[in-house]
Amino acid sequence: AGRQPRQGSDGEADAVSGAAPSLFLRGGRVIDPLSGRDSVADVLVRDGKVEAIGTGLAPKTKPGESLREIACRGLIVSPGLIDPHVHFREPGGEAKETIQTGSASAVRGGFTAVCCMPNTSPPLDTPQSIEFVRMRGREAHLTRVYTAGAATVGRAGESLAPMGAMARIGACAFTDDGDGIASAELMRKILLTCRSVDRAFLQHCQDPTLAAGGVMNSGALATRLGLGGWPALAEEVMLERDLRLNRSIGAHYHAQHLSAAGSVEILRAARAAGQPVTGEASPHHLLLTEEACAGYDSVAKVNPPLRTAADVDAIRNAVADGTITILGTDHAPHTPSEKARDFTSAPFGMIGLECALPLYAKALVESGLLDWPRLLRLMTVEPARLLGLDRRPGLEGIGELRVGGVADLTLIDPELAWTIRAADFASRSRNCPFEGWTVRGKAVAAIVGGEVRHADPRVG
Ligand code: DOR
Repeated sequence: AGRQPRQGSDGEADAVSGAAPSLFLRGGRVIDPLSGRDSVADVLVRDGKVEAIGTGLAPKTKPGESLREIACRGLIVSPGLIDPHVHFREPGGEAKETIQTGSASAVRGGFTAVCCMPNTSPPLDTPQSIEFVRMRGREAHLTRVYTAGAATVGRAGESLAPMGAMARIGACAFTDDGDGIASAELMRKILLTCRSVDRAFLQHCQDPTLAAGGVMNSGALATRLGLGGWPALAEEVMLERDLRLNRSIGAHYHAQHLSAAGSVEILRAARAAGQPVTGEASPHHLLLTEEACAGYDSVAKVNPPLRTAADVDAIRNAVADGTITILGTDHAPHTPSEKARDFTSAPFGMIGLECALPLYAKALVESGLLDWPRLLRLMTVEPARLLGLDRRPGLEGIGELRVGGVADLTLIDPELAWTIRAADFASRSRNCPFEGWTVRGKAVAAIVGGEVRHADPRVG
């Protein structure tokens, strides 16, 4: 109480610490999805900012300055990747993940900023809890850790949480993720509040009455397996309702981790009508179908569930045609013992931060749907806008790669082939459905505010 709003001071100070050596990134493929730049160039980073981009730069060191050169031939130099959807489990779920281990996992995946979901225990529904996560993120000093606040007290879906106070202290969006907002009247109030505090609402579209008892996609396979079915309708109905509610309000409404072809149709029509709505796709909904549940392996249990090949196609095509503009991992760690329970009682969720980039590339670039600049747009400038990071003092240019902008950068080897082994992850959890997959592309360095926070040994 009585504290000044801290928006703008939260971790952005890292960006201009001045302690790190300057960086000279020589000869990479520099991609800036916003301006359309895609050319081989050098990038000079000083004092936390991008000082110059060009060919044949020959930076002179200033007195007392140390300059680290990184050979970037064959690497993509991208704006730092931003994941708008992670679960770092602190407070209350430290056996699954902490902000420290989650942050380490993020930078190893190339993510220089993340947005934590508030479904912790207790949930993040007060200004103090928002500040706690931000402080832990600063202490970890790896990725930039932002957090969404819960929209309702205790995520109970009954009364409004103090959204204004949370926004003032730094909550970058609001959501009851893990659950949708069941009450239409409460949803209306949340949208009004989001509009007035200038934050997006991130909806986990799921009507609880239609999804009740569901543990996987409903259909013939669920019937054969004897598992509770969860219809696509549960997602579609809530999305449709919310867009109707928002029509006269005009808040930024964001549909998280879309799983169903029908939802894509609804989103496409709303965007065509000019509504302020965005949608998100997750690696698993771009690559896996309900067949992954056929062996009762709970690692394939996720909310919303994996659906059919037609749904996967629809999600991919929605990304390709610009209906879905944001990618988010929904990194949801759980302990091995929880995931060892039978399919019905194991928790929903899968981890994704350390393998997301090549999985997105597999689904979207290797398939010919997108090129790298378009893929990177969905992981940089678009999530930066969703979370309002680009409007925070000290973060000018986040999500972009431009002279004068904050030097949050990711170096990517687009050709590096490697095999996903969860045992090698920095995450505290291992519930990855892509175990053993051979993929192409890897984030080899993550630079935050001009500091190298992670570098693969081959970067030197
Ligand atoms: O599968 C999921 N796991 N979906 C969610 O929305 C929540 C998440 C979790 O927190 O484990």
